[in-house]
Order: sequence, then C-alpha cells, then structure tokens
Amino acid sequence: MTPNFSDNKFHNIGVAAKGKNFEPLARKASEVSDPAQLAFDPNFTELGRFVVTRQPKDIGAFKTPGLRDISLTAPYMHDGSEATLLDVVNFYDRGGEPNPYLDGGITPLKLTDQEKQDLVAFMESLTGQGTGSPTRAELQDPGKEASR
Ligand code: HEM
Repeated sequence: MTPNFSDNKFHNIGVAAKGKNFEPLARKASEVSDPAQLAFDPNFTELGRFVVTRQPKDIGAFKTPGLRDISLTAPYMHDGSEATLLDVVNFYDRGGEPNPYLDGGITPLKLTDQEKQDLVAFMESLTGQGTGSPTRAELQDPGKEASR
C-alpha cells in the first residue's frame, strides 16, 4: 500500500468491458501507428493501457487511482460508470465485469452488508480537511479556489 492508496500500476478490473468486444477493437487499433490518435478517439479509449504498450495483457487496463479524498470525487472509474462508493464496492463484490483480460486479483468477494458499509466508511475516512484538496463546489467552479 502506498501513501496515496494506489499500487500505481495498471489493471483490467472489467470496467471497460461492459458491452465491449475487445478483440476486433484491438485489431483495428493495431493498424493505427500514432498512440495519441488512439488516446483521443472514444472508440479506442476503452482499450486503456493497450493503446500505449500494444501488449494484449494491457487490454482494458487502467491505472489504479489514489483513494485520498475519494468521497469528494464521484462519479467513479475512468468512465464515471459507478455513481457512489457503495456502487463501487458492489462492483468489486460481483467480481468486476467478466472479460478475457480480467486481472487475476478480481474475483467475487461475497461481502456482507456490514462489510460493504465498513469499506465505504473506510474510504470516507480518507477525506482530508484543509489539505488544499478542492471541494466539489470548487471543482465545478474553479474560480472559487483562487479566492480561498
Ligand atoms: C474491495 C477492494 C477495493 C476497493 C474498495 C477499491 C476502491 C476503488 C475505487 C473507489 C475506485 C474508483 C476511483 C476513482 O474513480 O477515482 C477504484 C478504481 C480502480 N481500482 Fe480499486 N478498489 C479495490 C480493489 C482493487 C484491486 C484488487 C485492484 C487491482 C487488482 C484495483 C484496481 C483499480 C483500478 C485499476 C481502478 C481504476 C478503474 C477505472 O478507472 O476504470 N482495485 N477502486
């Protein structure tokens, strides 16, 4: 565990796999030589780290974000597909979204309701006070930050 609660690595936890067929997408992406062109094309961004490394093991893999102040930054995941921290916990509890490139560490957890609430409470406890992190209002209106 690192100070920002991320392993700073890339994993496929199945977020990008929702409704996606990775193989034809990866084949098409392999024909484009400029990674920047892929990174800004919404048809290809769900391939994640693959657009940079071109290695099949990186298909649908995204960088593990830090969890500090996580309660202030909903919605969650690279595509904003999980609305609340409890939704995120339920996502992990299901074992992510099955796909051929799913990270080995992602399996159904069978958590009790109490364990889910405990995980959410833990993540909420990572919210700082006066650390300089922008509040939700400031994120939505960056002008407010300057006047602090
Ligand atoms: C129950 C345990 C876990 C909890 C509570 C948890 C919590 C979270 C949360 C809240 C996010 C959203 C962050 C954001 O959108 O800013 C997230 C994203 C992510 N987590 Fe976890 N995590 C857990 C286990 C894991 C494990 C085991 C891995 C790696 C194998 C992992 C890798 C990732 C990655 C790669 C993302 C980004 C996914 C994307 O943006 O599509 N997490 N996690």
